Amino acid sequence: MTAAPQPRTRFAYDEWMEAQGLPVHRGYFVPDVRTIELGRWEERGCDAAFIQLTGQEGVSEARITEIPPGEVLPPYKMAVDEVVYVIQGTGTTTVWAEEDKRQDGHTFEWSDRSLFLVPPNQYRQFGNMRGDQPVRLLHYDYLPLGMSVVPDPDFFLHNNYEARVAGTKDLKAAFSEARQIIGGDGMRWTTGKGKPGAYWYGNLFPDMSAWDDLDSNAYRGAGGRTLRIQFAGSDMSCHMSVFDARTYKKAHRHGPGRVIVIPSGEGYSVMWLEGGERIVVPWQEAALFVPPDRWFHQHFNLGSKAARYLALHPPMQFAGYAEKVEDRARDQIEYVAEDPWVRETFEAQLAAKALTSLVPDGAYKNPDYVWTK
Ligand SMILES: [Fe+2]
Repeated sequence: MTAAPQPRTRFAYDEWMEAQGLPVHRGYFVPDVRTIELGRWEERGCDAAFIQLTGQEGVSEARITEIPPGEVLPPYKMAVDEVVYVIQGTGTTTVWAEEDKRQDGHTFEWSDRSLFLVPPNQYRQFGNMRGDQPVRLLHYDYLPLGMSVVPDPDFFLHNNYEARVAGTKDLKAAFSEARQIIGGDGMRWTTGKGKPGAYWYGNLFPDMSAWDDLDSNAYRGAGGRTLRIQFAGSDMSCHMSVFDARTYKKAHRHGPGRVIVIPSGEGYSVMWLEGGERIVVPWQEAALFVPPDRWFHQHFNLGSKAARYLALHPPMQFAGYAEKVEDRARDQIEYVAEDPWVRETFEAQLAAKALTSLVPDGAYKNPDYVWTK
């Protein structure tokens, strides 16, 4: 007699991920994705690793792929949108719709810290253009969520469904230069005070460390500026925050699944569940971390230049307590209300480098202090 089938006790994605036999990096953060251990993934013909940090489970996939110097990886196809951030290296992506029609596809180039989206159900092939340095790519998508709905990996990775974006013309348009959109109906980006903000619409952003067309994001402090991105023809989005040297942002909290990677800067973040132990995340370029579900988190710049963090967003139902902070008292801690440990630790860290804080004194006295750049 065969045993009765048992109800699933683990996420379908986790079972699939572990069956690939690659390293899975867990915990609260990855200090430097340029150097983490990879393993051989025969099916994809490359070295790779998974990153599943606390707060990501069941929502978002993060995966590292390496391309050896001068090589082109075998193509693969996926049913969900895939965001790719170039951790390091220079190369090309070719995207095409039908298996034997690669010649009709669209090819574009990228380099260090480029960000792009590959539309769903397209074949995609990544190549390294340099002969002296491996490429490392970070892939971000919603496969864990998808596999909880349809627990069949082949449905997402080996199906015959036709691509939604078909043909060279459509693909070229999708990867043309990003354009800025201000306001507009149905826009869910706001400035944090209910007013619509600007966002960028496109599929290819050449260098996230150099992008300087930013909006003010004064409500989160630190003279912060933001780039908001809505990927073309996709529900996926992200934002990049830029904030000044020797300052720190206000603590805030929201839902799970948001992967943060650092394009440039030097500092640390602190993450904690209300009343719980603090986790300190040191960072510099290519550090990666995930604020767990509803944990407060706060970002500190210890460098002599503005720092940048890029936050890859989960599906909108996981915003939870919203990034835009609907309830300031509940979801954001003003400077006047923070634990004295926050300021003391920041000033001590700066003092160790013979530096002082540039957080204005008024921010510690007035809860409505507006700190703009
Ligand atoms: Fe956040």
